[in-house]
Amino acid sequence: MPAMLLAQEKILGTEAQREAGKKIYDQKCAQCHGEQGDANSVATPFFRPQPRNFTSGIFKFRTTASGELPTHEDLKRSIKNGMPYTGMPPWPEFSDRQLSDLAFYIKSFYPDFGEYGDVQPLALPKPPAYSDASAERGRAIYEENKCLDCHGNLGRGDGKSAPTLKDQWNQPIRAADLSKRWTFRGGPTRADIFRTFTTGLDGSPMPSYNIQPPEDQWALVDYVYSLGQSDQPNYATMAAAKGISEPIDLSRGKALFDNAEAALFPLAGQVIEPGREFYPGVNAIEARAVYNADEIAIMLTWHTMTADTLGHNSPLLPAPPFDPQAPLAQGGEEFSDAVAVLLPSKTPEGVEKPYFMFGDSKNAMDIWFADLAKDSAEFFIGRGSKSIEPAGNGGLSLVSHYEEGEWSVIFKRSRVREGGLSFEEGAFVPVAFTIWDGFNRERGNKRGLTSWYYLYLEPMHKESPLAPMTKSGLLTLVVLLGIVAFARIKYSGKA
Ligand code: HEC
Ligand code: HEC
Repeated sequence: MPAMLLAQEKILGTEAQREAGKKIYDQKCAQCHGEQGDANSVATPFFRPQPRNFTSGIFKFRTTASGELPTHEDLKRSIKNGMPYTGMPPWPEFSDRQLSDLAFYIKSFYPDFGEYGDVQPLALPKPPAYSDASAERGRAIYEENKCLDCHGNLGRGDGKSAPTLKDQWNQPIRAADLSKRWTFRGGPTRADIFRTFTTGLDGSPMPSYNIQPPEDQWALVDYVYSLGQSDQPNYATMAAAKGISEPIDLSRGKALFDNAEAALFPLAGQVIEPGREFYPGVNAIEARAVYNADEIAIMLTWHTMTADTLGHNSPLLPAPPFDPQAPLAQGGEEFSDAVAVLLPSKTPEGVEKPYFMFGDSKNAMDIWFADLAKDSAEFFIGRGSKSIEPAGNGGLSLVSHYEEGEWSVIFKRSRVREGGLSFEEGAFVPVAFTIWDGFNRERGNKRGLTSWYYLYLEPMHKESPLAPMTKSGLLTLVVLLGIVAFARIKYSGKA
């Protein structure tokens, strides 16, 4: 075979390889990426970002220069690892050969693959050691390059132009939250971040950068790295409430929780019942809690692009059915941001809990609700999404505060409610959280939510030597229940 044809075959594969790729593609990929690779599928409107249109020849995750096509290996890696926090699943079960066949087939949707010879990966430098001094220096480079405009002062995705960003396919897109590098689809390591800067994410507003000298680009990498805590999310299985002896004075704000442990929980879109939210605006919530002899306070914090404090919100608001044809509405004025703590209305006996949506007829749910356009809390009792009753303010006090892309909301209540749920020292109380992002026009059952977790009131007094054992036994149970419940959300999401 002539050398040129051989070279083409190396890039585009043989007829048989593409055919093998097509078989897998039609089965596993076409429902999202379209039979013709043009992202024209029933599933497309349900995702943000939308499944890639392979006929556009635009790819985000590459080792090649901005504007170039990806290498064969890039495509294989993207398929194998998937794209966390988007609709693109990982496919760890595929063999190297299957990945390769798929990559060959995907290339056949765009005629320029192979047209100008093979693309070459950029030669990227090895990362120098991380240092705090370098990260500090990187802050100035972050400012000079206007990363703030999109990612915000502290990198929480709340820059002033963030609400207006659109991708190449004219879909709204959010600037990454740099404090959560486990959501980086180009990878969380320093080498990955350096490469992402160098290549840019073609098709998205994220530009490519070639900052000189390279030490400066590494300083920027180190600054971004310093904004996050870890490569993987440290999701908790429960929140521990700390016993304190002083009064719980809400005017102290965040400082009240200085000694309480933070517990981060993932949120998923509510897609099980009508009102479905396929792309929730918030993907995690952090909880801290303290209690004293009489009262308990729970502080919730989360990152969001804008503080939506105009309009109103309520779990009672009707949310129209999701309409895939409707233009993607961007809000911010009609519906305000809101949050709720969900608890069983009665201290549960055994492991039975209210249905995690909004309770059920047998097991009612207490809903501590804060419409962040207002400065007081509301209280609802839920017996299912269609029977939620307002019940005054339930004795709840509230303070809320938005700063630098982060909401912090504190609820406080007496530990005892006559005939209702009480928070007893040493108890594990089931708890879940829900967030409504006003910008996403979330309201009613269109919302992000967690599965059930536990709020554990750490005993104020010294534990007996036996206590740690029961505690670890219970913990195992808690972990199991958490996994089961969250798997249920995820599984239903795929149905
Ligand atoms: C459930 C829907 C879904 C399925 C199934 C799916 N994808 Fe995707 N895929 C997506 C979405 C959404 C994106 C866009 C992610 C983004 O822009 O961050 C994407 C992006 C991609 C990309 C783009 C990478 C880049 O650099 O831009 C490739 C390649 C890809 N998918 C290949 C596949 C292959 C091959 C399969 C089948 C084995 C598959 N996908 C199955 C939803 C899906
Ligand atoms: C014009 C707006 C804009 C500017 C300026 C910008 N970004 Fe981005 N950036 C984005 C958007 C939007 C995304 C998410 C793209 C997507 O989801 O596909 C992103 C994604 C990222 C990611 C995550 C990539 C991944 O792997 O998922 C990092 C890290 C990042 N940006 C850092 C920076 C830094 C540092 C700067 C300045 C040197 C910068 N960005 C400048 C809009 C911008």
